[in-house]
Amino acid sequence: MLNLTKKDHVLCFGLNFNLNIQRRDKVKRVILILVLLFVASYVFAKVGGEDVVFKVGFGDVTFSHEKHVEMGFLCKVCHPDPYITKEKHKKVTMAEMNKGKSCGKCHNGKEAFTTKGNCKTCHVKK
Ligand code: HEC
Ligand code: HEC
Ligand code: HEC
Repeated sequence: MLNLTKKDHVLCFGLNFNLNIQRRDKVKRVILILVLLFVASYVFAKVGGEDVVFKVGFGDVTFSHEKHVEMGFLCKVCHPDPYITKEKHKKVTMAEMNKGKSCGKCHNGKEAFTTKGNCKTCHVKK
């Protein structure tokens, strides 16, 4: 799948990997291929798959990749902006969401049900 030539430009998940590989430098080349395969498998393993749970006292929110991707949204609609990874998550308040941040980019009462109501559609008490 990944065929690295001298100057490959691989666009992966919004990040640019600009590789400049010396032909003689075989070890480095093999390591880079392994790293890229790892990144690619990591990304593709999650495509349309994993649910993301936001821990909130008011009730946890489960975001379904599967449902959103099935609706026809491309990865680039949400990645790398506003979302990168769970680890690099930037907390957003409902007040910010109501102004169009994070989920509020679409959940604004036009593209999808608004975050100014429908609390229980997203927040589920344990
Ligand atoms: C409607 C928005 C949306 C779409 C479309 C979307 N994602 Fe995501 N993705 C998210 C959210 C939300 C998170 C959680 C990030 C956070 O917590 O800040 C996430 C996280 C991820 C993560 C990181 C998971 C982790 O364990 O940290 C990967 C990888 C990912 N998405 C891949 C994809 C790929 C590939 C596609 C396209 C097939 C895609 N996403 C489409 C919203 C989306
Ligand atoms: C790119 C636009 C977009 C973004 C960003 C987005 N959604 Fe959605 N979402 C939609 C659309 C469109 C629907 C279906 C239309 C409707 O039900 O109004 C939907 C439906 C849903 C549903 C109901 C279906 C289900 O999964 O049970 C939930 C819950 C949901 N979204 C949660 C979230 C959360 C949480 C976030 C932020 C982490 C988010 N969405 C971000 C567009 C988006
Ligand atoms: C589209 C899904 C969605 C809807 C609808 C929604 N929320 Fe949220 N809410 C979230 C997500 C996701 C978070 C976590 C955001 C983060 O951590 O970045 C959150 C966070 C919160 C928080 C903690 C942060 C803060 O602002 O204090 C509270 C409280 C909250 N929501 C209450 C509500 C109430 C009340 C409603 C209804 C008026 C509501 N939410 C509607 C998705 C939603």
